Amino acid sequence: MYAVYINDVWFRYEDNIEWTLYDIDMNLKLGTSVGLVGPTGSGKTTLAKIIKGLLKPTRGEVYILGKKIDDYSSIELAKTVGYLFQNPTHQIFSLTVYDEIAFGPRNIGMENIEDRVNKIAEKFGLSDKLSLSPFNLSTGEKERIAIASVLVMEPEILILDEPTLGQDYKNYNIIKQVIYELKKEGKTTVLISHEIDLINSCVDEIIALKNGKIMFLGNKRDFLKNEDILEELSFLDKNFNLVLG
Ligand SMILES: Nc1ncnc2c1ncn2[C@@H]1O[C@H](COP(=O)(O)OP(=O)(O)OP(=O)(O)O)[C@@H](O)[C@H]1O
Ligand SMILES: [Mg+2]
Repeated sequence: MYAVYINDVWFRYEDNIEWTLYDIDMNLKLGTSVGLVGPTGSGKTTLAKIIKGLLKPTRGEVYILGKKIDDYSSIELAKTVGYLFQNPTHQIFSLTVYDEIAFGPRNIGMENIEDRVNKIAEKFGLSDKLSLSPFNLSTGEKERIAIASVLVMEPEILILDEPTLGQDYKNYNIIKQVIYELKKEGKTTVLISHEIDLINSCVDEIIALKNGKIMFLGNKRDFLKNEDILEELSFLDKNFNLVLG
């Protein structure tokens, strides 16, 4: 059984003539960490939203943990696939940090919510912020709130869509730690990032998209050895050095 299995998926946004994703065939093995890379506009977020069930493929099939995505209830899917949005700080809406982190668990009727929120807040250095308004906190703290809000749901599959946490050294290490720990627990993570050094230190496998098509799928080491692909994706400069984040 795969964590995610995608069979011949094509996707077109409603008012577009062009396809945004073509002919996507891929699977994510349980317990792997995968880097999803590709230039701006190549379809990474679109693919992530399809896996999260936020967009329905125009053609093709998506299976999550061996079950067709259409056969999941919204609660079940919310529990199974966690998605940290690109620009997550825009998604924060609760009056307190506690309520923000507790929102998802309340929504799906989880038990022991207080314990779960306290535990995750401690892990992300937010324990003394729980009664505060998230809007008054720093960007780095808001980013930690956003990721805590996703992780508190204990998703089997986690997608991180370009966490900008690299700008904050502490948060950069948190991302690495989160992916490492999830892998130890046998969970599957997808890291979307332009930062090749973050990708390099966090993932085992790579999926590279260009213009809506998969141009590489496989082991990270093979990816990093493939100068043609690295160059095509602008990960190499003109002296064939990796362009670091
Ligand atoms: N809501 C939408 N309606 C129509 N077209 C869209 C919509 N969202 C994205 N697109 C188009 O689909 C293509 C893929 O966009 P997507 O956001 O998936 O790319 P991305 O790889 O995540 O890019 P980035 O690195 O900038 O985040 C782009 O051409 C984009 O303009
Ligand atoms: Mg994107």
